[in-house]
Amino acid sequence: MKLPNSYYNTMSFFGSLIAGFCFILIVFLFVITSVFTDGGGYIGLITFIILPMIMIVGLLMIPLGMYLKTRREERSGKEETRWKVIDLNNKRTRNAMIIFVVGTFVILFASAIGSYNAFHYTESNEFCGTLCHSVMSPEYTAYQQSSHAHVKCVECHVGEGADWYVRSKLSGLYQVYSVTFNKYPKPIPTPIHNLRPARETCEKCHWPNKFYSNRIVNIRSYLADTFNTECNITLKMKTAASISTSGHSEGIHRHINPKVKIEYIATSEHRDTIPWVRYTDLETNEVTIYKDEYEPLPEEKMLSSETRTMDCMDCHNRPSHLFNSPTDYIDDGINKGTIPKELPYIKQIALQVLKVKFSTADSALNFINDSITKYYKEEHPEIYNKSKKLIDSAISGIQEEFGKNSFPQMNVYHTSYVNHIGHQESKGCFRCHSGTMVSETGKKIRNDCNLCHTILLQGVDTLIQSTFVNGALEFKHPVDIDEAWKEAACSECHSDLY
Ligand code: HEC
Ligand code: HEC
Ligand code: HEC
Ligand code: HEC
Ligand code: HEC
Ligand code: HEC
Repeated sequence: MKLPNSYYNTMSFFGSLIAGFCFILIVFLFVITSVFTDGGGYIGLITFIILPMIMIVGLLMIPLGMYLKTRREERSGKEETRWKVIDLNNKRTRNAMIIFVVGTFVILFASAIGSYNAFHYTESNEFCGTLCHSVMSPEYTAYQQSSHAHVKCVECHVGEGADWYVRSKLSGLYQVYSVTFNKYPKPIPTPIHNLRPARETCEKCHWPNKFYSNRIVNIRSYLADTFNTECNITLKMKTAASISTSGHSEGIHRHINPKVKIEYIATSEHRDTIPWVRYTDLETNEVTIYKDEYEPLPEEKMLSSETRTMDCMDCHNRPSHLFNSPTDYIDDGINKGTIPKELPYIKQIALQVLKVKFSTADSALNFINDSITKYYKEEHPEIYNKSKKLIDSAISGIQEEFGKNSFPQMNVYHTSYVNHIGHQESKGCFRCHSGTMVSETGKKIRNDCNLCHTILLQGVDTLIQSTFVNGALEFKHPVDIDEAWKEAACSECHSDLY
């Protein structure tokens, strides 16, 4: 088939070759992936993003080559007319025209399918969670074990509509750059300031007016003593109104009741120090400002600081990426049975070993194995000789739990991202409910132990104390620390016990 003279040049020729080759490859991969796999991972990246980009370059090379050739010929005086006459009586022009028109249709059609797939692909969990494997592996691993393992990353991270899509892909481009050149911070800093607002995400599935019943939480932990003594506590969390939904006694989710607004100023990056809180009752327009008695916010900082309105994220800041502390994940392993409770000292030694900061996951796994084996061999040879099997299964249990919660390559540990729900290992609710936040009239943000939950059952080993469902036990600290828990915040001891 004859084509216009200008087509016959090296650049256009290679352009056609590249474009044609890519096109065939894309169709081939597309068919293969639709038949055999879900099209995720690197294949998706190649089929929907990299190959189309190369194909476009190839296509652009065709007219560019033609243009350059015409210009060269003009300069050398062979051609004179600046603007071509498209003469369909000329066979070469006709051929070129047919190829152009048919080609355009085919490519438009294919790119409609392609960009639909590219859109889906760039919104998929594989794309967000596995492509930059080592960077996202902490979040992706934690996510897969969370209650939200079936909620797509983009449903929390990217808003709806084209502007959010473009915004997220633009910041994605920057991320590709920073990953390529190893310029990203480890760990990735939070709070994320451009996270899709909680109002738009969480509330799609859990909205504030929805009635939550009170929640029963059972916690079973183990002390770091000789026999890994079992410790139980059952809390009734007051997530709901006690009787009716009207009035002010609405419990924990009162903060997000549309009838009240709670704003605060935090003086630390992770929002864990809060010296100023404003509570507005939107029905009566009554405003109460609470200030920290001991460490008030300096006046000059008042104007320059961001005032944030409390939403879901101020308590549920780790809804899908919770990194547990060693004491919690060892408890998990014992509860699951992967770490044998009947192996004496195992919790104690595990906590000691896991205190070390590792540089890579492999060195951590080796260290866990070597130091636990060595400990039993040297300190407790009788156990070592009798229970070698238990020790081995404990080691693999600990390694497994470590792998799900600690990521040395990204510098991610439980301390990298504190969880604001609760008050044991970090200040959490006690950031405001510490008993030191006072209004001008002397009103305090309450902090009595039965405000947020009541204890229905508690006890160490077989010494269990329990009450009926509307009763409340006075807290008894599992190990004897006198009355220290009444004076000091729990996190003052618990944040660096292990
Ligand atoms: C249920 C909602 C939700 C889902 C689903 C979700 N995230 Fe998140 N993500 C969050 C919240 C909330 C934060 C913490 C924001 C903050 O503290 O400012 C966060 C933080 C992050 C961070 C910052 C580092 C960190 O640990 O705080 C990364 C990275 C991340 N998510 C990646 C992902 C990936 C990848 C997926 C899908 C595999 C995903 N997220 C799914 C809600 C979600
Ligand atoms: C697409 C729907 C969806 C979105 C969006 C969503 N969730 Fe959920 N959430 C769920 C489902 C489903 C469950 C599991 C319910 C169950 O286990 O009974 C759940 C469970 C929970 C739980 C209770 C389980 C637990 O781990 O304690 C909390 C708390 C929660 N979500 C908070 C949030 C927060 C905060 C956000 C916003 C960052 C959010 N959810 C966004 C669907 C969603
Ligand atoms: C003041 C802190 C706080 C705020 C703000 C908050 N929550 Fe909660 N929420 C809690 C606590 C505490 C629990 C009980 C958690 C537990 O026991 O593990 C809870 C429980 C839940 C549960 C589980 C209920 C159940 O019975 O399983 C869901 C779902 C939930 N919250 C969603 C939300 C959503 C959505 C928002 C924002 C609209 C929100 N929460 C705002 C503190 C808060
Ligand atoms: C930014 C500050 C702040 C944080 C953080 C905070 N609260 Fe509150 N909370 C308030 C204020 C202000 C009030 C209203 C004053 C009061 O009732 O003492 C309140 C009231 C309450 C009430 C009583 C609601 C009623 O009227 O029945 C409960 C229960 C409660 N909070 C639970 C929690 C829990 C659980 C957490 C942690 C997950 C938490 N709060 C974290 C500021 C905060
Ligand atoms: C402002 C609300 C609030 C107040 C006040 C409060 N707690 Fe809690 N408490 C929580 C929340 C939220 C959790 C987390 C529940 C969970 O893990 O799901 C919690 C968890 C606990 C746990 C279980 C800890 C664990 O993980 O093993 C104990 C024990 C406890 N609280 C005791 C107390 C005692 C004692 C007081 C009084 C000094 C108190 N709480 C005051 C909100 C509160
Ligand atoms: C003076 C320091 C101190 C204070 C304050 C303190 N604890 Fe403890 N707590 C300990 C020690 C030490 C242990 C034993 C740790 C072990 O054996 O693993 C412990 C163990 C526990 C355990 C059982 C093991 C576990 O980690 O789950 C719970 C539950 C607990 N404390 C809750 C609390 C709560 C809730 C508060 C605040 C009301 C609090 N503690 C305040 C020192 C303290």
